[in-house]
Amino acid sequence: MQRLAKQWRHAGTRVGLVPTMGYLHAGHLSLVREARRQAGSNGRVVVSIYVNPTQFAPTEDLASYPRDLPRDLKLCRAAGADAVFAPDDADMYPGKSQGRYSTFVTEENLGRIMEGAARPSHFRGVTTVVAKLFNLVLPDVAVFGQKDFQQAAIVQRMVADLNFPVRIVAAPTHREADGLAMSSRNQYLDAAQRAEAVILFHALQAAKAAVAKKTIPVAPLKKDLQEFLTAAPLARLDYVEFFDPATLQPVRQVKRGTHMALAVCFGKTRLIDNARL
Ligand code: PAJ
Repeated sequence: MQRLAKQWRHAGTRVGLVPTMGYLHAGHLSLVREARRQAGSNGRVVVSIYVNPTQFAPTEDLASYPRDLPRDLKLCRAAGADAVFAPDDADMYPGKSQGRYSTFVTEENLGRIMEGAARPSHFRGVTTVVAKLFNLVLPDVAVFGQKDFQQAAIVQRMVADLNFPVRIVAAPTHREADGLAMSSRNQYLDAAQRAEAVILFHALQAAKAAVAKKTIPVAPLKKDLQEFLTAAPLARLDYVEFFDPATLQPVRQVKRGTHMALAVCFGKTRLIDNARL
């Protein structure tokens, strides 16, 4: 991969990267098209497909995470990717099973709240694998989804802090017709859970409407949203947070432009969504 990327770069070709864990859906493919735009007509677009073990906790769904490489390859081709980089664990973490892999990249601030609080080792795995992918694919630009807003912010922080010569683009969330954010994990939902899962989107919209004309303190707004979520009896709220999108710092007063993120569990399936209010 690195050799190919060097050839491209040597010839003055711009390289765009879309990191994924595969089982691609229309949301991923919208990032591929964005990378195509960002890399320009003479550029090259690489999609990486790798279910990164270091970002899963032992209790999480690493083993059952859906995989279908042949299908993904077809989708990447159709979406205009020039290459797919699909390494295996021995490529990415050589010697790990013998305890010889020992270097990790950790962002120490933005990763402590929300997803980081719920999944303490998650972002360390993400920043490590993304740093490795940047060194392997040598992209000029990398496209991430706003669907994982905190992840994109942490990657942006890492790039700034560690001087990676990569421009980060955060592309909008792609949704199903009813508003549910597309996710590889949606396929874990049974029909009843799927029908209720749209409550995440509706909660974001309800909060947006509530703060459209007035500022509301966090505590009553959170209480209202908890109440709102009881309309979906299969849903269990993990967290709902309100924060400044530039710093990810929680706010006390929620107003237009404040960012909201929430995580909701349906059985063992954990869904996240976020939006600017
Ligand atoms: P994965 O969940 O496969 O997501 C890959 C990229 O697609 C991420 O940038 C994510 O934000 C984006 N994405 C997911 N659903 C989307 C949607 N509905 N609309 C738009 N973009 C969407 O995120 C990861 O993989 C991994 O953590 C990774 C960055 C690849 C590191 O292993």
